[in-house]
Amino acid sequence: MSRLLEVTGLRARYGKIDALHGVDFHVERGEIVTLIGANGAGKTTTLMAISRARPPDGPRVKAGDIRHQGQSILGLAPEKVVSELNMALTPTGRRIFGNLTVGENLSLATYARRDDKAGIKRDYQRVYDLFPRLAERRRQRSESLSGGEQQMLAVGRALMSRCSFLLLDEPSMGLAPLLVQDMFRALQALNREGMTILLVEQNAKLALKFAHRGYVLSTGEIVASGPCAQLMDDPEVKKAYLGG
Ligand SMILES: Nc1ncnc2c1ncn2[C@@H]1O[C@H](COP(=O)(O)OP(=O)(O)OP(=O)(O)O)[C@@H](O)[C@H]1O
Ligand SMILES: [Mg+2]
Repeated sequence: MSRLLEVTGLRARYGKIDALHGVDFHVERGEIVTLIGANGAGKTTTLMAISRARPPDGPRVKAGDIRHQGQSILGLAPEKVVSELNMALTPTGRRIFGNLTVGENLSLATYARRDDKAGIKRDYQRVYDLFPRLAERRRQRSESLSGGEQQMLAVGRALMSRCSFLLLDEPSMGLAPLLVQDMFRALQALNREGMTILLVEQNAKLALKFAHRGYVLSTGEIVASGPCAQLMDDPEVKKAYLGG
């Protein structure tokens, strides 16, 4: 069977600046794969190239391919990535509407299946079970949520859209340690239910503990890869990303 996601020789640039110089990696269905690397390594660029959810000044793919179940998705319109491939990117590309409540933001993500009332109700419950904070704040305007709570809402919305492949850009960023634990526990639960996760993190220690396999990205190139346990023992990786 073909791989869920396969990226080969991916080169991307912003104007004349090369950000990715030929990146290769893959994700199998059901896996948690992490992409770690320092500031500016090209992690966010990689996710934007895959999801096609990019701002007007976003990266352009110059060479290489991105295949989903064997089919190239480079020609696909951004909105089709979510609707047809069941892939969601968060929080980059999250469109949380600040003047709507938490509940209303979740509900927007169900528009495409608005007739499935029972299913939608179950999904609300699932999001609120995973993130009790969102349940407490369901009638609160989203702009008044903390940064961490907004991250949860972004993940919650991805779930309401029934995605089966979650692309996460630094879900730990700006979260207090306890909230980071909540977030990763919720993500682990989702993975156990079958959700595939591609996680981008600067917090390499956390990411390598959480994921099954990892890739180290350094200035636009993959410089190491393997099962997380192996990467954690790699002297180079230790020195550069795990604080010695
Ligand atoms: N809109 C842009 N225009 C021009 N260059 C950009 C743009 N966005 C990113 N870059 C450049 O592309 C390279 C990769 O950036 P990217 O955002 O992918 O890094 P990152 O690994 O996500 O870093 P961080 O950990 O800081 O989020 C960097 O050198 C960055 O300066
Ligand atoms: Mg980034």
